[in-house]
Amino acid sequence: MSQAGGGRRAGITVRAPGKVNLALSVSPRRPDGYHELTTVFLAVGLHDVVRLAPAPRLTVTVRGPGAADIPAGDGNLAARAVRLIARAAGVEPSVAVHIDKRIPVAGGMAGGSADAAAALVGCDALCGLGLSREELLLLAAELGSDVGFPLYGGVALGTGRGELLTPLEISDAGVFHWVFAVSPHGLATPAIFQEYDRLRRTRLADGERPTQERVAEVTDALNSGDAALLAAAVKDVNDLQEAALSLRPELADTLRLGPEHGALAGLVSGSGPTCAFLTESARAAATLATALSATGCYRDVLVTAGPANGCTAAPDWT
Ligand code: C5P
Repeated sequence: MSQAGGGRRAGITVRAPGKVNLALSVSPRRPDGYHELTTVFLAVGLHDVVRLAPAPRLTVTVRGPGAADIPAGDGNLAARAVRLIARAAGVEPSVAVHIDKRIPVAGGMAGGSADAAAALVGCDALCGLGLSREELLLLAAELGSDVGFPLYGGVALGTGRGELLTPLEISDAGVFHWVFAVSPHGLATPAIFQEYDRLRRTRLADGERPTQERVAEVTDALNSGDAALLAAAVKDVNDLQEAALSLRPELADTLRLGPEHGALAGLVSGSGPTCAFLTESARAAATLATALSATGCYRDVLVTAGPANGCTAAPDWT
């Protein structure tokens, strides 16, 4: 394929966003081992950049913070995504995938899922498959509960095990400034759900507020564009937070530190251990990030805004 200027398309670059869950309501484990969820996904402007190019065979290389912790070979979710879409389309998985990590690894921000979503989008474009979003979503759901959301980005309601998505239209007023404190060591999602089960058995579920009420408060606050309202709505809204704090008690110190330096709210992002802080402005986010960095306790402190767009693909020209 040639560009108007005469260059050749050498590959595809896809930018895939990370996410934070602004509501995460978890029900008891289902017979298939998963938990039924109701969640509000918010895409944020932290992106992994995934480059795909034709190659003699499927390879995956990863660069960036935490790259050494990402499984190579068959265990790599982006490699599985390439194989799955190639099989579905009846083509060879002859693609070199290179991932530049920016989303924390094993951090509760669905970085691995973002890479898999990017691989689906990239392969679709590279091989000219022309799959619909619905077809891509079905493949995404086979790969993992969180793989579908980066295809949409923005804000979406997630149900089922998280893979059933309803995009939510949010007014342009709502751009929110976030700081993410990245722990030096990641947490495995299955371990958090196991701890959630253990804790749930030891306490009564009485007094829990109905999920729909909490979700409506979050979406109303997002629409209002009012960070203080959103801060109130996301308080204690993550059912996995207690499990993350149980396995990593030091996260409680991080969550305390945020408001001491101007955060309006702090929560564990998804299954953790990354902590997400909502601030009232870009300036407040920068001030908080400086204070968190100065503690020397974090692998990274990241400043960004959301909602952000879903996966975007662009050709690489030689
Ligand atoms: O769907 P995914 O492969 O990302 O899930 C990883 C693990 O997280 C599952 O094997 C399960 O242990 C846990 N999980 C869960 N309930 C969900 C999503 C994930 O228990 N809704």
